[in-house]
Amino acid sequence: MKVFQTVVEIQKYLLEINRLETNSVGFVPTMGALHAGHLSLVKAAKEKSKLTVSSVFVNPTQFNDIKDFERYPIQVDTDLEMLLQAGCDVVFVPSVDDIYPAGVQGKTDVDLGFLGRTLEAVQRPGHFEGVMQVVKRLLDIVQPDFLFLGQKDYQQCMVIARMIEHFHLPVTLEICPTLREPDGLAMSSRNQRLNPVERLSAVKLSKALFYIKEHIQQQTINDLVTTQLQVLSADELIKVEYLAVVDGKTLQSLSEYKNDIPTTVLIAAMVGQVRLIDNVIVTD
Ligand code: PAF
Repeated sequence: MKVFQTVVEIQKYLLEINRLETNSVGFVPTMGALHAGHLSLVKAAKEKSKLTVSSVFVNPTQFNDIKDFERYPIQVDTDLEMLLQAGCDVVFVPSVDDIYPAGVQGKTDVDLGFLGRTLEAVQRPGHFEGVMQVVKRLLDIVQPDFLFLGQKDYQQCMVIARMIEHFHLPVTLEICPTLREPDGLAMSSRNQRLNPVERLSAVKLSKALFYIKEHIQQQTINDLVTTQLQVLSADELIKVEYLAVVDGKTLQSLSEYKNDIPTTVLIAAMVGQVRLIDNVIVTD
């Protein structure tokens, strides 16, 4: 496995290897603190492409809360070991200066429409602008044929799809299913910040999502959401930011379930000091 820390080095390598060996590059961008969910993206990339490239970069511009950025877990040596074991070919571990040589200003100018005004965009102003900024920069550097993102960040996937469309980027987005712990909690780098009591509470988020999915034919969306919000608010460690049943393509909220409309249920909540998100697709 090759590890590069500068743009110049990785670009030189990718240009050479591209020409000689492969024209199919799969890219898995990460912010490190890897878990089995990330490794499933690497696995998917390996199946689809001849060369698998991953990046480990905690992007400062996508954190609207500086404390969240400072608390983000960093474990680069473990990450590299995990990527090696997963069979990743190339890892890019750049510095902030390498990614943003002209400074962190200069956000990517893509009109996200409603996507940029709902759910995560409301709770985390500037977050998606930072995500687009870093993903655009990484795509320009790596120039992959396939980009692998996890469904857990549902809205992020849609934002990046929109950005790819906006710039007509020659890359295919592959969205991979969320991996879950045995009790249903969505895997996330943030889970390691939960203490044992919070960890018990955290599972209630996915339980609420699956409850809604399973009962959506029998009860109204309003009743389901209201009941699940009551269940969650009974746990004093949980503060729900949103629990929404939406059109899976537009993210507009739905008041009524119809099985011919793509439908996704999304949640964001603080569990203690840790912000978690999750979603389930009811109909795609
Ligand atoms: O999903 C993430 O981990 C990040 O938002 C990403 C796509 C690596 C950009 O920093």
